Amino acid sequence: MSESVRRKITVPAIRARKGAGPPIVALTAYDFPSAAALEEAGVEIILVGDSLGMVVLGYETTLPVSMDVMVHHTAAAARAKPSALLVADMPFLSYHGSREEAIRNAGRFVQEGGAEAVKIEGGRRRAGTVRAIVEADIPVMGHIGLTPQAFHAMGGFRVQGRTSDAVQELLDDVRALEDAGAFSVVLEGMPAEAARLITSTAGIPTIGIGAGPYCDGQILVLHDLLGWGAGPSPKFVRRYAELRRTTVEAVRSYASDVRSGRFPSAAESYPAANGETAGGGASAPKRRAAPLERSDEDDLES
Ligand code: KIV
Repeated sequence: MSESVRRKITVPAIRARKGAGPPIVALTAYDFPSAAALEEAGVEIILVGDSLGMVVLGYETTLPVSMDVMVHHTAAAARAKPSALLVADMPFLSYHGSREEAIRNAGRFVQEGGAEAVKIEGGRRRAGTVRAIVEADIPVMGHIGLTPQAFHAMGGFRVQGRTSDAVQELLDDVRALEDAGAFSVVLEGMPAEAARLITSTAGIPTIGIGAGPYCDGQILVLHDLLGWGAGPSPKFVRRYAELRRTTVEAVRSYASDVRSGRFPSAAESYPAANGETAGGGASAPKRRAAPLERSDEDDLES
């Protein structure tokens, strides 16, 4: 079956991948073209992550990201109509107050954003909220280990689960999320052996990021994978492209062509109708062509 006609990937389908089949392929996307590209590439979960605050909006942490921003980007990704499962990340403080507020915010992602599930950071402390959202029929993906919204509490972006006590806490967190009805859980920033132990005991799929090879699936931030960010990548990232370098080179070539008059060429310009001269024979403007008028017969591609 070609990727373009693949079946819709649902929450039960992801849940059924626990211990079965190849690792689940997940990636972040924050807009229409990137979600469409991920879909074409056959990704199984598209996460509209609040990492967009850092890689798209230029903040130093994910903490300033609001509900409105997340819903806006989720709706853009949803317009790609992916058969991949579309998960929206609940931003900082959108699920930390009352259960009612958490349900209302999760519901906005479904009603306004077109998401099929939401993701929440935190383990045992969030279990009651996860249960409430799941009981409202909104599927929840958990997220434990390095949870970026706890940046200040963790003292920075720090690897978690490095001692046996810390691993036991993570095991307790996953158990609580699973009991609360989460359908999967992201394991971020922890030793591979910790993630292996958690994956072998959890009854739901684990999706790793900086958590080694033993998870049920893997996720990366798209901009990291593409080399589209400004600085160096974290150790766990594999860059499959150098988009920033490619972009700078392409824009430099464009600038050079514009400055030297090589762009646009005759092939990139429109002829006047039947040999007439645009402007009725008036002398041509020095730097800019007259604005193109579009009629029903004009086709910008020809
Ligand atoms: O916001 C995000 O992109 C995430 C992934 C890194 C899991 O939470």
